[in-house]
Amino acid sequence: MPITLGISCFYHDAAAALVHDGEIVAAAQEERFSRRKYDPSFPSNSILYCLEEGDVPVRNLDTIVFYDKPALTFDRLVNSYLNVAPKGLNSWLTSMPRWLSQKLRIPDLIREHIDYKGPILFVPHHLAHAASAFYPSPFDEAAILTIDGVGEWATASYVLGKGAEVKILKEMHYPDSLGLLYSAFTYFAGFKVNSGEYKLMGLAPYGEPKYLNLIKEKIAKIRDDGTVSLNLEYFGFLDRLEMTSPRFDELFGGPRRMPESRITRREMDMAASIQVFAEESMLKMANWVHKETGKRNLCLAGGVALNCVANGRILREGPFEDLWIQPAAGDAGGALGAALAVEFGYHGVERTNSTGLDRQKGSYLGPAFSEDEVEAFLERGGYPFKRLPVEERATTVAKALADGHIVGFFSGRMEYGPRALGARSILGDPTRDDTQRIMNLKIKYRESFRPFAPAVINDKVSVYFEIEHSSPYMLLVAPVQKARCLPSNSIIPEDDDLLPVVSQKRSDIPAVTHYDYSARIETVHRETNPLFYQVIKRFEELTNYAVVVNTSFNVRGEPIICTPEDAYRCFSRTEMEYLYLEGFWLDKKQQPKLQETTDWRKEFELD
Ligand SMILES: [Fe+2]
Repeated sequence: MPITLGISCFYHDAAAALVHDGEIVAAAQEERFSRRKYDPSFPSNSILYCLEEGDVPVRNLDTIVFYDKPALTFDRLVNSYLNVAPKGLNSWLTSMPRWLSQKLRIPDLIREHIDYKGPILFVPHHLAHAASAFYPSPFDEAAILTIDGVGEWATASYVLGKGAEVKILKEMHYPDSLGLLYSAFTYFAGFKVNSGEYKLMGLAPYGEPKYLNLIKEKIAKIRDDGTVSLNLEYFGFLDRLEMTSPRFDELFGGPRRMPESRITRREMDMAASIQVFAEESMLKMANWVHKETGKRNLCLAGGVALNCVANGRILREGPFEDLWIQPAAGDAGGALGAALAVEFGYHGVERTNSTGLDRQKGSYLGPAFSEDEVEAFLERGGYPFKRLPVEERATTVAKALADGHIVGFFSGRMEYGPRALGARSILGDPTRDDTQRIMNLKIKYRESFRPFAPAVINDKVSVYFEIEHSSPYMLLVAPVQKARCLPSNSIIPEDDDLLPVVSQKRSDIPAVTHYDYSARIETVHRETNPLFYQVIKRFEELTNYAVVVNTSFNVRGEPIICTPEDAYRCFSRTEMEYLYLEGFWLDKKQQPKLQETTDWRKEFELD
């Protein structure tokens, strides 16, 4: 019965995961504890949490595994530098100190942080992604695609998963990378690389893919197997600290958009163009791996697998019958993948046959807080609250939503991965015209163009959306049912102000209907989150709609909340009206006035 701790850190979004005899016990990202978004530092807090959750003393760990082979990555960096030297000297000198002090000393660092004497293993980056996609999936056999910016040398891999075995068939290598190409456009559009890709995807429906041919002619080609080849003259990541080169500026008529400045038609059209390019590339990859493996099911991971619009197209237009995507698809998920790869591939744990359900447990793999702990916290702070009997909980939340209020919802174990799935969520009524505006501007303090996601009970998904498939991790986009859609004026005004366009009612669930009549769907399952399921059921009894708005419990730039303290702080700083906190009900009107000496909006760096 081996126990394995997986660790990912020092690149982006550190995390730890604990796996016992092939079963996922716990997994969490460091940012949730340190309150620093995408915190890449050594995940001491996550490790501590995982060991506590599993009740495993360090001496009982059989293996610790890191999700990447730093020596290989170092080899890539040296090679890349020598290819462009002396041009890349600046970026070389910037990255070197960290390499020497951290990444090449990982076993020492692990042993410095925890008193562990057992073996420390390293799993190749894309094998970790592939393992994270396949082992928790409901499939006994599947084709696997991993796509990201870069990990060691690989930027994408085609993989076969069978029983307890995961075998890499083929890899695409740096600098050819769909992830880096998408990130270059993210950077150019004025968003942050490694996190703003999501915003670029959200912006795409407002534009036309006018630059698609230009991209294909000048910047990147898609090969028959879906991999891309980049024309490096247009990129800066090889020899400078920027993603794009001056030639990229020339091609698109001027320098990149400065962060937080006005979004213009050019950015919208560029977003639409690179999105279509990415979809074409991913569809071809899916076709290729289907042909090579002959499998009916596909598993996806790697940061690019968070592109839920492309995932929706793979499901609708691709050759596979079924699709499963690791919710922690980015590098945080590498901790889990590495641990699973070691359990099955190294310790020889048997992988039992599928029961039809996945083994990710709804991705509710983080810390939970008992009602006693929550009550003690509320008493300590002197915060007025009402204790809700078990049978009144779902109804109280649903009633507040039906009355048009915005409710913070804190229940059970925190989610692993970038999406809030109804454990640390803010909920609203999707049928109201003003929900999207209020949530964006008064609660999340973020860009007005960004749509919200619907959480719908699983058996009713096709009542609202053109999809029969479940989407428990909010990783599939599908059209809203045609009969629900309303005609709307789709012309974006000359001044590029998106707010009037966003505010137009596009369906009878306007808060979750995107500009192009699509929605990023979360299906809610009784088996994994019974209370959230009940809330939506009660909401349906009150309104006839089995769907609510679900957005992550945080403000812009802040990591998703973890503890009751985080929840209360976020509740009091925003215009959220009610808070459901693990069995307790808080009304904003009754709370003491917030007393803070500094402007909390400056606390979090904008994402
Ligand atoms: Fe990765």
